[in-house]
Amino acid sequence: MRRSVNLWEFLVILASIGEVQWVVGSCSSFEQTRVAVLRPHSVSITEFGAVGDGVTLNTKAFQNAIFYLHSFADKGGAQLFVPKGRWLTGSFDLISHLTLFLDEGAVILGSKDSGNWPVVDPLPSYGRGRELPGGRHRSLIYGSNLTDIVITGENGTIDGQGFIWWDWFRNHTLDYTRPHLVEMMHSKGVLISNLTFLNSPFWAIHPVYCSHVHVQNVTILAPPDSPNTDGIDPDSCTDVCIEDCYINTGDDLISIKSGWDEYGIMYAHPCSDITIRRVIGETQSSAAVALGSEMSGGIKKVHVEDLQIFNSKYGIRVKTSPGRGGFIEDVYITNLVLMNVEIAIGFSGQYGEHPDDGFDPTALPSIKRITVKGIIGENISRAGVLEGIEGDDFSDICLSNVTLNVTSELPWNCSYVQGYSDLISPEPCEPLREKIPDWSVCYKPGNKRVASRKTIQLVEDVVELLFI
Ligand SMILES: *[C@@H]1O[C@H](CO)[C@@H](O)[C@H](O)[C@H]1NC(C)=O
Ligand SMILES: *[C@@H]1O[C@H](CO)[C@@H](O)[C@H](O)[C@H]1NC(C)=O
Ligand SMILES: *[C@@H]1O[C@H](CO)[C@@H](O)[C@H](O)[C@H]1NC(C)=O
Ligand SMILES: *[C@@H]1O[C@H](CO)[C@@H](O)[C@H](O)[C@H]1NC(C)=O
Ligand SMILES: *[C@@H]1O[C@H](CO)[C@@H](O)[C@H](O)[C@H]1NC(C)=O
Ligand SMILES: *[C@@H]1O[C@H](CO)[C@@H](O)[C@H](O)[C@H]1NC(C)=O
Ligand SMILES: *[C@@H]1O[C@H](CO)[C@@H](O)[C@H](O)[C@H]1NC(C)=O
Ligand SMILES: *[C@@H]1O[C@H](CO)[C@@H](O)[C@H](O)[C@H]1NC(C)=O
Ligand SMILES: *[C@@H]1O[C@H](CO)[C@@H](O)[C@H](O)[C@H]1NC(C)=O
Repeated sequence: MRRSVNLWEFLVILASIGEVQWVVGSCSSFEQTRVAVLRPHSVSITEFGAVGDGVTLNTKAFQNAIFYLHSFADKGGAQLFVPKGRWLTGSFDLISHLTLFLDEGAVILGSKDSGNWPVVDPLPSYGRGRELPGGRHRSLIYGSNLTDIVITGENGTIDGQGFIWWDWFRNHTLDYTRPHLVEMMHSKGVLISNLTFLNSPFWAIHPVYCSHVHVQNVTILAPPDSPNTDGIDPDSCTDVCIEDCYINTGDDLISIKSGWDEYGIMYAHPCSDITIRRVIGETQSSAAVALGSEMSGGIKKVHVEDLQIFNSKYGIRVKTSPGRGGFIEDVYITNLVLMNVEIAIGFSGQYGEHPDDGFDPTALPSIKRITVKGIIGENISRAGVLEGIEGDDFSDICLSNVTLNVTSELPWNCSYVQGYSDLISPEPCEPLREKIPDWSVCYKPGNKRVASRKTIQLVEDVVELLFI
């Protein structure tokens, strides 16, 4: 006997049909945060005994100031003002409803003593530190389980003095994974704007398990040969907007992640609804925008537009491996200008790097519905090196309107990928040569999402209930 549909289920079905049409563009939900919130109360770090001479260690002053500001959290929050000066400190913790404001000429300097960067637990979605087993050094500015955090200023600087960490990393004298400049965990409503981030020991800005994260108008710099100094790495986050930034570092400028192999698969926190726009940058060793390689919790609904990429190894790069599991789906990349870039589009299906021997080599990632529309490039060595995984699904890759001045005799090399293209110069590799049959097979924001089997079944139930 057929199950009948009650009114409640009918309303749920209507709502789910209403959702079928959506537009990626999570930056639009941030209009109200364009101007950092004004806090009714403000204190200066100098009121807590801090000395801005670049020598005195001010960790206690930061901790005491923030402890004092706790009492304003339920009164609209408070601002901690950092004036001009060089404020040396170890790692410190933020609280909810706080604005950390760095005035013009204010520099927060990370201590060169690793003892001032306490060791914290590894992330559950990584199972261990990214570089070494066990814990990891806590970031210089850290926050967990917070809401409404603003880190901003008048182009003040957060300088990690990473040189010492890069030496320790290169000569293998570290016991734990290197720290970030800013890490926010399990937090909602994070705004980072109008600042410069210099010489991070590791990735500069790392929001993980967060939602509503807005990074706007920041400059992130590290030398081209500094190891793993990614710019911004949204990791298992939803609703992230990164815009109007200049990033020039030693690794990926922006890398979207969601956990590592069996740990990421088990934790299952995808990274979704990510918008990246109006970013300018260069990276001699890596990509302007990378997806992965840690993507085991899944990555979906990523919208990238208006990038200018110079003197870089890769423009866009998908990085994954057998053992990762997870997925990268529904990605739309548009309007890129590339100059002096080795590989415009790269897919690396054998990236390797596993946390331990416990990964499942049969856990293959699903890579689907990736659209790249509108690239112009000058002095590009290779247009695309797209390497999928034998027996796996890298499908509905759509390329449109790509015009590259390529120096290599073999501009494309593709294996184990399937897709479509139009208006591509130089002519694309064979697996992508089929003309885009119609835009419904390619991912495009605003396209009607293909109704799921479940939705179709529910709609059939309703039709039957109402009309039969
Ligand atoms: C950044 O600074 C500009 C100029 O001072 C200001 O208008 C803007 O509101 C600031 N943006 C944020 C998000 O703090
Ligand atoms: C922070 O939030 C996470 C996720 O909700 C939770 O598992 C964890 O216990 C919380 N930590 C603290 C210290 O409250
Ligand atoms: C960006 O930040 C700089 C200072 O870092 C400021 O002068 C400028 O007005 C900001 N621009 C916007 C659009 O917020
Ligand atoms: C902000 O400061 C950085 C480093 O001091 C500098 O390179 C950049 O030009 C400054 N930006 C603005 C808008 O003043
Ligand atoms: C490693 O580098 C650090 C920082 O430069 C240095 O102090 C240390 O002596 C080096 N250790 C070895 C074993 O090379
Ligand atoms: C072309 O780009 C490469 C880097 O991929 C660079 O080394 C070379 O100098 C560039 N050539 C010109 C003429 O700019
Ligand atoms: C192709 O891209 C160029 C620049 O990226 C743009 O000006 C042009 O309008 C695009 N053409 C089509 C047919 O989309
Ligand atoms: C690529 O650029 C070079 C140098 O500017 C130029 O001579 C060549 O004609 C260009 N090739 C194409 C296919 O546009
Ligand atoms: C193309 O890629 C395949 C597989 O990744 C590799 O074995 C081959 O050497 C590449 N060919 C060229 C010409 O780069």
